[in-house]
Amino acid sequence: MPINSDVIAPLGNAELSHRRPAKLDRFWYGAVYYPEHWDAATRKDDAKRMRDAGITIVRMAEFAWDLMEPEEGRFDFSLFDDTIGHLGDHGISTIMCTPTATPPRWLTLKHPHLGRVDVNGVVQIHGTRQHACHMNPVFRQYSRAITQDMAAHWRASTHVVGWQTDNEINCHFSECHCASCQIAFQQFLRRKFAGDIGKLNADWGTAFWAQTYDRFEDIPTPRPEKPAYANPAHHLDYFRYLYDGVARFQHDQVEILRAQKPSWWITHNGIMSHVDYRGLFSQDLDVLGYDVYPMFHWEHTTRAAGQAFSCDRARANAGNFIVPEQQSGPGGQRPYFHDTPEPGELRSMTYTSIARGADSLLYFRWRTCRFGAEEYWCGIIDHDNVPRRRFDEVKRIGAELRAIGPEIMGTHVHVDAAVAGADIHVSDAHSTYHLGLPSDVDISWQVHKELFDAGYAVGCIHPSDDLAGVKLYVIPHWAVFDPAWVPNLTRFVERGGTLVIGARTATRDWNNNVVPDTLPGCLRALAGVTVEEYGKQNRPDLRPLTLQLPGGTELRSENWFEQLSCARGTEVFATWKERHLAGSCAISLRRVGTGHVVYVGTYLTTALAKALQPEFVRLAGLSKLWPDAPAAVQAVRREAVGKRLWFFLNHGEGEVTLASTPRGTDLTTGKSSGGPLTLPRHGVAVIKEASHELPGARKPKARK
Ligand code: GAL
Repeated sequence: MPINSDVIAPLGNAELSHRRPAKLDRFWYGAVYYPEHWDAATRKDDAKRMRDAGITIVRMAEFAWDLMEPEEGRFDFSLFDDTIGHLGDHGISTIMCTPTATPPRWLTLKHPHLGRVDVNGVVQIHGTRQHACHMNPVFRQYSRAITQDMAAHWRASTHVVGWQTDNEINCHFSECHCASCQIAFQQFLRRKFAGDIGKLNADWGTAFWAQTYDRFEDIPTPRPEKPAYANPAHHLDYFRYLYDGVARFQHDQVEILRAQKPSWWITHNGIMSHVDYRGLFSQDLDVLGYDVYPMFHWEHTTRAAGQAFSCDRARANAGNFIVPEQQSGPGGQRPYFHDTPEPGELRSMTYTSIARGADSLLYFRWRTCRFGAEEYWCGIIDHDNVPRRRFDEVKRIGAELRAIGPEIMGTHVHVDAAVAGADIHVSDAHSTYHLGLPSDVDISWQVHKELFDAGYAVGCIHPSDDLAGVKLYVIPHWAVFDPAWVPNLTRFVERGGTLVIGARTATRDWNNNVVPDTLPGCLRALAGVTVEEYGKQNRPDLRPLTLQLPGGTELRSENWFEQLSCARGTEVFATWKERHLAGSCAISLRRVGTGHVVYVGTYLTTALAKALQPEFVRLAGLSKLWPDAPAAVQAVRREAVGKRLWFFLNHGEGEVTLASTPRGTDLTTGKSSGGPLTLPRHGVAVIKEASHELPGARKPKARK
């Protein structure tokens, strides 16, 4: 088998978009299952119970390499054969996983150099998971071999319908500085710079601190603060090397699986650090998986908003996703134990995922295990194997999904207002040189939450993606920025969109160096503004700066100020009040085509996002998705040509009533909708609208 193959091809799904529905023929509903944790009698009963709960698929084997290959070259797939067959007899299909997150002990003993090495030079040892380096050629060879053996073994199975590669690559630890990584990093750079070391020196600015390199073989992986600050261009290219490396590692497996049986669909469960889910990694998959654990959001009052934001960010990468792991109980690990979902809350979290882009969903996990590192990560069924209310809830959802699942497929999530998202290069660049400022993700979350709380159809979209139909688009402080995105943004504005650009956007180039232009660089012409001076507010409490907004509102800025000067045709929208900035422009507004560009010369905060929202709404002509939904209710619409599905989810502490609902059928009850609807705490309605006038939909005949 070839080692370190340089080419990833063919890539089947290059057209990634937030609007892309999953390439699946049905909505799968299921659970993550570990037959290796249970005896034969228990396993026997499981299949019947699963079928009763409406489960149509399980996922298996991601940590079972030691059982399937107990000694090198000796395979025993019998446990999984029996389980797959037995489940299949009950109408339940299987997603198999390549087990490469947990190499067996014989492998790590035979090849101790597989261990990842952290930034301090500490080698990760056997005993947990994800300790082997994806770039190690020996590990890649073993990973290919086990994938090949599993794929060949299950090729003829009619019950295995899809595969998950590995498990949450980079979940615990994403960097590695082992000996293999030194070589693989150098190979990556040689490819990236087409063998031109002079170009690397120029692009990285190696003239600073005597870093000039004569040969690619001389370049180490960067170790920031060992002893001093790293070159940010070197650092970002190291992260890009990690994206490339895990995509290649995964591709080895994808290639083998596709060659064995092209009809298998392939996924991977994210979203973790240093993986480019909008790049090669997801282009290689049929559908991206996103593991949803809302209970990590500790504050229940903002948990639904947090889940919505994470699902929207996931969807921004590659479109609709599947949820290979949806939290089904409290999760516990050595240092924490989550809130226990209240009655109805599991259902509400499930429908939040579905509303915001899930095209299939499996719970983590079928039953809580009594041993090992995750013995308090609760599943649908408790340790004692007694099905209780969580099981009943899963069963209820299973029954509902018989009607809802087929309606979901092929639809996308409707978005009126979006926050820029899904660019790992931008987010990682921030981490290389953050100046002590909040990240793009921190700020996106605040802006998204304000729009979510106010009832707008909010989402996350990458600036190069399809912005058609979107009315408001906010780019919060994307310092690294690709000029190639500007034409798409210009089109968006010319056609009537409102673009909001946060301070410091487009101040750094794709190499992660400061741009030579006057700021905001490649966005200067579109925004019609120049930044004359900028500064960080380290103690805004001691030297406050106030923004004077239209209508007399005054608001303190935090983090950052910019003094703007407006080009002809650009209006001053807000001014600074104090110190040497007094009277100068803080926020500008420019009309372009039938749209607007707002440049905000400070960092967006919750308070500022709240204060500016009415102005953004007015400029963008934004209206609430379902004005009759009370504040506690999340309203989301999934749609396709000729179809609209409405989700209403009550996240409040008590019962709420919507004064009206779309006319159609509530698929959770089968009852007609249109009038008022009362939802209990954690209550959910999924309404299929009877008729509407989406392009392509047949207009209802006029009644006399
Ligand atoms: C996920 C992981 C699972 C399990 C779960 C609960 O991140 O994929 O294997 O660990 O979390 O911790």
